[in-house]
Amino acid sequence: MCAFSHERPDCAARRRAAADPYGKRSQASLYTMAFHERLKAETSEAHRAAEESPFVDDLLSGKLPASAYACLLGQLFLVYQTLEDAARSHRENPVVTPFLDDALLRVPELERDLRHLSGDDWLDHIDPMPATLDYTNRIREVAYGSNAAFIAHHYVRYLGDLSGGQIIRRSLERAYGFSDDGVRFYRFDSIPKMKPYKDRYRYALDSAPLSAREHDELIGEAIQSFELNAAVFRDLGHELARR
Ligand code: HEM
Repeated sequence: MCAFSHERPDCAARRRAAADPYGKRSQASLYTMAFHERLKAETSEAHRAAEESPFVDDLLSGKLPASAYACLLGQLFLVYQTLEDAARSHRENPVVTPFLDDALLRVPELERDLRHLSGDDWLDHIDPMPATLDYTNRIREVAYGSNAAFIAHHYVRYLGDLSGGQIIRRSLERAYGFSDDGVRFYRFDSIPKMKPYKDRYRYALDSAPLSAREHDELIGEAIQSFELNAAVFRDLGHELARR
């Protein structure tokens, strides 16, 4: 699969993003932002809600058994299998190819982590939770037929993994003593420097040939995707409480 263009994003746009990362601007100025800034600003509330999950807090402070973490990775395996299947269907689609990169693929890494955590029969331990089924069904429903919806789901997972995912990895290493196996999902060995990679990703967001209606669709779908992720955390919390 192809990687991003090597052109740099507009510097003024990056300065504006740094000055106001959480989008506390008037509605009017939202429309003068670069698209990646608008996307971040308009999804910031949904991001915060996903971030504030008690399951994640307990996991990152080491209060949960490693089996709870394996359970999370099992649900993520189902999500990434679905997302990466959809990505393969877009391999010849010029609107989407700037986002596709083999360095991002997470299914092989999840398989290695799950084998390490749950043994050779790791697949038998994965039972999709209702929220995971909602999430994977939604991806199947919208990500094949709509460029904007596919990019939304791609953005929420992969830019998240390259951003907050790196904080999560360090917390998991500290709390559970993982080094390689166990946290390969959060490691992107073929991406040596995150910042320039994420800048190129944001440039791809800004330069994708999408109409105003598709931009709105992308933002709406990204908000839904954050909510679907938050619901998976909620289900994991309930599952843990039932045990
Ligand atoms: C403990 C939970 C989380 C923490 C601590 C966290 C933290 C962060 C931080 C610090 C950033 C900004 C990094 C930067 O600007 O380079 C970020 C960005 C991001 N996070 Fe999270 N996050 C968490 C959960 C999530 C979840 C559950 C998702 C969605 C599945 C997610 C998706 C994203 C995305 C898409 C971005 C990129 C925003 C952008 O620059 O456009 N995060 N996260």
